[in-house]
Amino acid sequence: MTSRLMTSRLRKVVFPVAGLGTRFLPATKVVAKEMLPVLDRPLIQYAVDEAIDAGADTLVFVTNRYKHAIADYFDKAYELESKLEQAGKNELLAAVQDTVPRHVRCVFVTQPEALGLGHAVLCAKPVIGDEPFGVILPDDLIVNGPQGGGRAGALRQMAEAAIREDAGVIAVEEVPREATGKYGIVDAAPVSDRAARIRMVIEKPRPEDAPSNLAIVGRYVLPGRIFELLEKTTPGAGGEIQLTDAIEMLLAERPVLAWRFEGTRYDCGSKLGLVKATLAMALADPALADATREFIREWN
Ligand code: UTP
Repeated sequence: MTSRLMTSRLRKVVFPVAGLGTRFLPATKVVAKEMLPVLDRPLIQYAVDEAIDAGADTLVFVTNRYKHAIADYFDKAYELESKLEQAGKNELLAAVQDTVPRHVRCVFVTQPEALGLGHAVLCAKPVIGDEPFGVILPDDLIVNGPQGGGRAGALRQMAEAAIREDAGVIAVEEVPREATGKYGIVDAAPVSDRAARIRMVIEKPRPEDAPSNLAIVGRYVLPGRIFELLEKTTPGAGGEIQLTDAIEMLLAERPVLAWRFEGTRYDCGSKLGLVKATLAMALADPALADATREFIREWN
Protein backbone atom coordinates (compact mmCIF):
# COMPACT_ATOMS: atom_id res chain seq x y z
CA MET A 1 0.00 0.00 0.00
CA THR A 2 1.40 3.40 -0.91
CA SER A 3 0.58 6.39 1.32
CA ARG A 4 -1.44 9.32 -0.03
CA LEU A 5 0.48 11.36 -2.59
CA MET A 6 -0.49 14.75 -1.23
CA THR A 7 -2.89 15.83 1.48
CA SER A 8 -2.39 19.60 1.52
CA ARG A 9 -1.08 22.14 -0.98
CA LEU A 10 1.86 21.74 -3.34
CA ARG A 11 4.84 23.45 -1.68
CA LYS A 12 7.83 22.85 -3.91
CA VAL A 13 8.27 23.34 -7.65
CA VAL A 14 11.30 22.46 -9.76
CA PHE A 15 12.30 24.41 -12.86
CA PRO A 16 14.76 22.39 -14.97
CA VAL A 17 16.56 25.15 -16.87
CA ALA A 18 19.93 23.58 -17.60
CA GLY A 19 19.29 22.65 -21.25
CA LEU A 20 21.52 24.03 -23.98
CA GLY A 21 18.74 25.86 -25.83
CA THR A 22 20.28 25.09 -29.23
CA ARG A 23 17.19 26.26 -31.14
CA PHE A 24 17.89 29.83 -30.05
CA LEU A 25 21.61 29.93 -30.80
CA PRO A 26 23.46 32.24 -31.05
CA ALA A 27 21.33 34.23 -28.53
CA THR A 28 21.54 31.36 -26.02
CA LYS A 29 25.34 31.49 -26.09
CA VAL A 30 25.00 34.07 -23.32
CA VAL A 31 21.27 34.44 -22.57
CA ALA A 32 19.48 31.46 -21.03
CA LYS A 33 16.43 30.48 -23.10
CA GLU A 34 14.27 31.04 -20.02
CA MET A 35 15.36 34.69 -19.93
CA LEU A 36 13.96 35.40 -23.40
CA PRO A 37 11.13 37.90 -22.94
CA VAL A 38 7.51 37.73 -23.96
CA LEU A 39 6.83 41.47 -23.95
CA ASP A 40 8.61 42.79 -20.84
CA ARG A 41 8.80 39.61 -18.75
CA PRO A 42 11.18 36.69 -19.20
CA LEU A 43 9.70 33.20 -19.66
CA ILE A 44 10.93 32.18 -16.21
CA GLN A 45 8.77 34.89 -14.60
CA TYR A 46 5.57 33.47 -16.12
CA ALA A 47 6.59 30.02 -14.87
CA VAL A 48 7.34 31.27 -11.35
CA ASP A 49 4.01 33.12 -11.18
CA GLU A 50 2.23 29.89 -12.16
CA ALA A 51 4.05 27.96 -9.40
CA ILE A 52 3.12 30.57 -6.78
CA ASP A 53 -0.49 30.52 -8.02
CA ALA A 54 -0.41 26.75 -7.33
CA GLY A 55 0.65 27.41 -3.70
CA ALA A 56 4.43 26.93 -3.91
CA ASP A 57 6.75 28.59 -1.40
CA THR A 58 9.99 26.87 -2.44
CA LEU A 59 11.25 27.25 -6.01
CA VAL A 60 14.11 25.03 -7.10
CA PHE A 61 16.00 26.09 -10.21
CA VAL A 62 18.19 23.44 -11.80
CA THR A 63 20.70 25.46 -13.78
CA ASN A 64 24.06 24.96 -15.43
CA ARG A 65 27.21 26.84 -14.64
CA TYR A 66 26.68 29.33 -17.46
CA LYS A 67 23.21 30.46 -16.41
CA HIS A 68 23.99 33.10 -13.78
CA ALA A 69 21.36 35.40 -15.27
CA ILE A 70 18.49 33.42 -13.71
CA ALA A 71 19.91 33.72 -10.18
CA ASP A 72 20.72 37.40 -10.79
CA TYR A 73 17.17 38.02 -11.99
CA PHE A 74 15.65 36.82 -8.69
CA ASP A 75 18.30 38.55 -6.57
CA LYS A 76 18.10 42.09 -5.22
CA ALA A 77 19.38 44.72 -7.71
CA TYR A 78 20.70 47.33 -5.22
CA GLU A 79 21.97 49.97 -7.64
CA LEU A 80 19.00 49.79 -10.00
CA GLU A 81 16.51 49.85 -7.13
CA SER A 82 18.09 52.90 -5.50
CA LYS A 83 18.19 54.77 -8.86
CA LEU A 84 14.49 54.03 -9.50
CA GLU A 85 13.63 55.04 -5.94
CA GLN A 86 15.50 58.35 -6.24
CA ALA A 87 13.76 59.04 -9.56
CA GLY A 88 10.33 58.32 -7.99
CA LYS A 89 9.68 55.57 -10.55
CA ASN A 90 7.59 53.55 -8.14
CA GLU A 91 5.82 51.30 -10.64
CA LEU A 92 9.10 50.21 -12.18
CA LEU A 93 10.61 49.78 -8.73
CA ALA A 94 7.75 47.44 -7.76
CA ALA A 95 8.20 45.45 -10.99
CA VAL A 96 11.90 44.98 -10.23
CA GLN A 97 11.30 44.06 -6.56
CA ASP A 98 8.29 41.80 -7.05
CA THR A 99 9.85 39.02 -9.12
CA VAL A 100 9.06 36.70 -6.17
CA PRO A 101 6.96 37.48 -3.06
CA ARG A 102 8.82 37.69 0.27
CA HIS A 103 7.50 34.43 1.69
CA VAL A 104 8.90 32.43 -1.26
CA ARG A 105 12.45 31.09 -1.22
CA CYS A 106 14.55 30.34 -4.29
CA VAL A 107 17.07 27.51 -4.27
CA PHE A 108 19.64 27.00 -7.03
CA VAL A 109 21.05 23.61 -7.88
CA THR A 110 23.61 22.89 -10.59
CA GLN A 111 23.24 20.12 -13.15
CA PRO A 112 26.92 19.44 -13.91
CA GLU A 113 26.24 18.04 -17.40
CA ALA A 114 23.17 18.24 -19.66
CA LEU A 115 22.27 14.54 -19.31
CA GLY A 116 18.56 15.02 -19.95
CA LEU A 117 15.37 16.23 -18.30
CA GLY A 118 15.13 13.19 -15.99
CA HIS A 119 18.67 13.80 -14.76
CA ALA A 120 17.93 17.53 -14.24
CA VAL A 121 14.90 16.66 -12.06
CA LEU A 122 17.03 14.16 -10.11
CA CYS A 123 19.48 16.98 -9.29
CA ALA A 124 16.67 18.57 -7.19
CA LYS A 125 16.40 15.51 -4.90
CA PRO A 126 18.42 16.96 -1.97
CA VAL A 127 16.05 19.95 -1.79
CA ILE A 128 12.77 18.10 -2.35
CA GLY A 129 13.38 14.97 -0.24
CA ASP A 130 10.41 12.62 -0.09
CA GLU A 131 7.67 15.22 -0.70
CA PRO A 132 5.38 15.52 -3.70
CA PHE A 133 6.47 18.35 -5.96
CA GLY A 134 5.66 20.15 -9.20
CA VAL A 135 7.81 20.51 -12.30
CA ILE A 136 7.43 23.37 -14.78
CA LEU A 137 9.34 23.64 -18.04
CA PRO A 138 9.29 27.40 -18.56
CA ASP A 139 9.56 27.20 -22.34
CA ASP A 140 6.04 25.73 -22.37
CA LEU A 141 4.20 28.95 -21.54
CA ILE A 142 0.59 28.20 -20.53
CA VAL A 143 -1.81 31.13 -20.34
CA ASN A 144 -5.27 30.63 -18.92
CA GLY A 145 -7.39 33.49 -20.21
CA PRO A 146 -5.79 36.76 -21.30
CA GLN A 147 -2.75 37.22 -19.00
CA GLY A 148 -4.29 34.61 -16.66
CA GLY A 149 -7.62 36.39 -16.28
CA GLY A 150 -7.85 35.39 -12.60
CA ARG A 151 -8.46 31.74 -13.53
CA ALA A 152 -6.43 28.84 -12.10
CA GLY A 153 -3.08 28.33 -13.80
CA ALA A 154 -2.32 24.88 -15.23
CA LEU A 155 -0.21 23.75 -12.26
CA ARG A 156 -2.90 24.79 -9.74
CA GLN A 157 -5.48 22.78 -11.69
CA MET A 158 -3.12 19.80 -11.56
CA ALA A 159 -2.26 20.15 -7.86
CA GLU A 160 -5.99 20.19 -7.05
CA ALA A 161 -6.52 17.07 -9.16
CA ALA A 162 -3.56 15.35 -7.42
CA ILE A 163 -5.14 15.91 -3.99
CA ARG A 164 -8.66 15.02 -5.13
CA GLU A 165 -7.71 11.86 -7.02
CA ASP A 166 -4.66 10.85 -4.94
CA ALA A 167 -2.60 10.48 -8.10
CA GLY A 168 0.45 11.85 -9.88
CA VAL A 169 -0.65 14.27 -12.61
CA ILE A 170 0.93 15.09 -15.97
CA ALA A 171 -0.25 17.81 -18.32
CA VAL A 172 -1.20 16.66 -21.81
CA GLU A 173 -2.46 18.31 -24.96
CA GLU A 174 -3.82 16.93 -28.22
CA VAL A 175 -1.28 17.36 -31.00
CA PRO A 176 -1.57 16.63 -34.74
CA ARG A 177 -0.82 12.94 -35.46
CA GLU A 178 2.21 13.83 -37.57
CA ALA A 179 3.78 15.62 -34.54
CA THR A 180 3.87 12.63 -32.13
CA GLY A 181 7.59 12.11 -32.81
CA LYS A 182 8.37 15.36 -30.96
CA TYR A 183 6.66 14.43 -27.67
CA GLY A 184 6.14 11.82 -24.98
CA ILE A 185 2.76 10.28 -25.84
CA VAL A 186 0.34 8.67 -23.37
CA ASP A 187 -2.14 5.84 -23.66
CA ALA A 188 -4.85 6.69 -21.14
CA ALA A 189 -8.39 5.72 -20.12
CA PRO A 190 -10.69 8.74 -19.55
CA VAL A 191 -12.00 9.16 -15.99
CA SER A 192 -13.55 12.63 -16.33
CA ASP A 193 -13.78 15.60 -18.66
CA ARG A 194 -10.15 16.58 -18.19
CA ALA A 195 -8.53 13.55 -16.54
CA ALA A 196 -7.54 10.16 -17.91
CA ARG A 197 -5.69 7.37 -16.11
CA ILE A 198 -2.39 6.68 -17.86
CA ARG A 199 -1.75 3.07 -18.90
CA MET A 200 1.50 3.66 -20.74
CA VAL A 201 3.87 6.44 -21.87
CA ILE A 202 6.12 6.26 -24.89
CA GLU A 203 8.84 8.74 -25.80
CA LYS A 204 8.69 10.29 -29.30
CA PRO A 205 6.83 7.51 -31.19
CA ARG A 206 6.38 7.59 -34.97
CA PRO A 207 2.77 8.54 -35.85
CA GLU A 208 2.00 4.94 -36.90
CA ASP A 209 3.29 3.59 -33.53
CA ALA A 210 1.66 6.24 -31.30
CA PRO A 211 -1.13 4.90 -29.04
CA SER A 212 -2.89 8.31 -29.13
CA ASN A 213 -2.25 11.95 -30.00
CA LEU A 214 -2.18 13.04 -26.31
CA ALA A 215 1.24 14.62 -25.84
CA ILE A 216 2.97 15.32 -22.53
CA VAL A 217 3.74 19.02 -22.11
CA GLY A 218 5.90 20.75 -19.52
CA ARG A 219 3.94 20.37 -16.24
CA TYR A 220 4.07 17.51 -13.73
CA VAL A 221 2.97 16.78 -10.15
CA LEU A 222 5.02 13.83 -8.91
CA PRO A 223 5.75 11.97 -5.66
CA GLY A 224 9.24 12.06 -4.11
CA ARG A 225 9.46 8.36 -5.00
CA ILE A 226 10.22 9.41 -8.59
CA PHE A 227 13.82 10.17 -7.53
CA GLU A 228 14.51 6.52 -6.64
CA LEU A 229 13.01 5.50 -9.97
CA LEU A 230 15.16 8.08 -11.79
CA GLU A 231 18.24 6.65 -10.08
CA LYS A 232 17.38 3.28 -11.65
CA THR A 233 16.80 4.80 -15.09
CA THR A 234 19.43 4.13 -17.72
CA PRO A 235 20.02 6.57 -20.59
CA GLY A 236 17.28 6.21 -23.21
CA ALA A 237 16.44 8.13 -26.42
CA GLY A 238 19.33 10.43 -27.41
CA GLY A 239 21.62 9.10 -24.60
CA GLU A 240 19.64 11.19 -22.08
CA ILE A 241 18.01 10.14 -18.80
CA GLN A 242 14.34 10.50 -19.66
CA LEU A 243 11.73 11.55 -17.12
CA THR A 244 9.13 9.53 -19.05
CA ASP A 245 11.09 6.30 -18.40
CA ALA A 246 10.84 6.85 -14.63
CA ILE A 247 7.15 7.76 -14.99
CA GLU A 248 6.61 4.47 -16.83
CA MET A 249 7.98 2.67 -13.72
CA LEU A 250 5.83 4.81 -11.42
CA LEU A 251 2.70 3.62 -13.26
CA ALA A 252 3.24 0.15 -11.81
CA GLU A 253 3.06 1.59 -8.27
CA ARG A 254 0.36 4.25 -8.20
CA PRO A 255 -2.18 5.98 -10.46
CA VAL A 256 -0.93 8.78 -12.67
CA LEU A 257 -3.41 11.01 -14.47
CA ALA A 258 -3.05 12.75 -17.80
CA TRP A 259 -4.61 16.21 -17.31
CA ARG A 260 -6.04 18.15 -20.26
CA PHE A 261 -5.45 21.58 -18.75
CA GLU A 262 -7.63 24.62 -19.29
CA GLY A 263 -5.49 27.26 -21.01
CA THR A 264 -3.44 27.93 -24.12
CA ARG A 265 0.08 26.58 -24.47
CA TYR A 266 2.78 28.32 -26.47
CA ASP A 267 5.88 26.28 -27.28
CA CYS A 268 8.37 29.03 -26.59
CA GLY A 269 11.26 26.60 -27.05
CA SER A 270 10.64 27.17 -30.78
CA LYS A 271 10.91 30.45 -32.68
CA LEU A 272 7.37 30.29 -34.04
CA GLY A 273 5.96 29.56 -30.57
CA LEU A 274 7.76 32.57 -29.12
CA VAL A 275 6.41 34.80 -31.91
CA LYS A 276 2.85 33.51 -31.31
CA ALA A 277 3.11 34.03 -27.54
CA THR A 278 4.38 37.57 -28.05
CA LEU A 279 1.54 38.43 -30.42
CA ALA A 280 -1.08 36.85 -28.14
CA MET A 281 0.19 38.77 -25.12
CA ALA A 282 0.33 42.01 -27.10
CA LEU A 283 -3.27 41.49 -28.26
CA ALA A 284 -4.30 40.89 -24.62
CA ASP A 285 -2.60 44.09 -23.43
CA PRO A 286 -4.92 47.12 -23.70
CA ALA A 287 -1.92 49.42 -24.24
CA LEU A 288 -0.70 47.40 -27.24
CA ALA A 289 -3.76 45.63 -28.67
CA ASP A 290 -4.94 48.21 -31.23
CA ALA A 291 -1.51 48.98 -32.64
CA THR A 292 -0.66 45.26 -32.83
CA ARG A 293 -3.92 44.47 -34.63
CA GLU A 294 -3.23 47.32 -37.08
CA PHE A 295 0.28 45.99 -37.70
CA ILE A 296 -1.03 42.47 -38.42
CA ARG A 297 -3.66 43.89 -40.81
CA GLU A 298 -0.94 45.70 -42.80
CA TRP A 299 0.71 42.34 -43.47
CA ASN A 300 -2.46 40.61 -44.75
P1 UTP B 1 14.63 20.77 -24.42
O1 UTP B 1 14.37 19.45 -25.00
O2 UTP B 1 13.74 21.89 -24.82
O3 UTP B 1 16.14 21.13 -24.69
O4 UTP B 1 14.58 20.59 -22.84
P2 UTP B 1 16.89 22.51 -24.58
O5 UTP B 1 18.33 22.25 -24.43
O6 UTP B 1 16.28 23.37 -23.49
O7 UTP B 1 16.58 23.27 -25.96
P3 UTP B 1 16.96 22.90 -27.48
O8 UTP B 1 16.04 21.77 -27.86
O9 UTP B 1 18.41 22.53 -27.53
O10 UTP B 1 16.68 24.18 -28.23
C1 UTP B 1 13.35 20.56 -22.11
C2 UTP B 1 13.56 21.16 -20.73
O11 UTP B 1 14.47 20.37 -19.99
C3 UTP B 1 15.55 21.14 -19.52
C4 UTP B 1 15.60 22.34 -20.46
O12 UTP B 1 16.23 23.45 -19.82
C5 UTP B 1 14.13 22.57 -20.76
O13 UTP B 1 13.49 23.30 -19.72
N1 UTP B 1 16.77 20.31 -19.56
C6 UTP B 1 17.02 19.50 -20.62
C7 UTP B 1 17.66 20.35 -18.50
O14 UTP B 1 17.46 21.10 -17.51
N2 UTP B 1 18.77 19.56 -18.55
C8 UTP B 1 19.03 18.73 -19.59
O15 UTP B 1 20.05 18.02 -19.55
C9 UTP B 1 18.12 18.71 -20.66
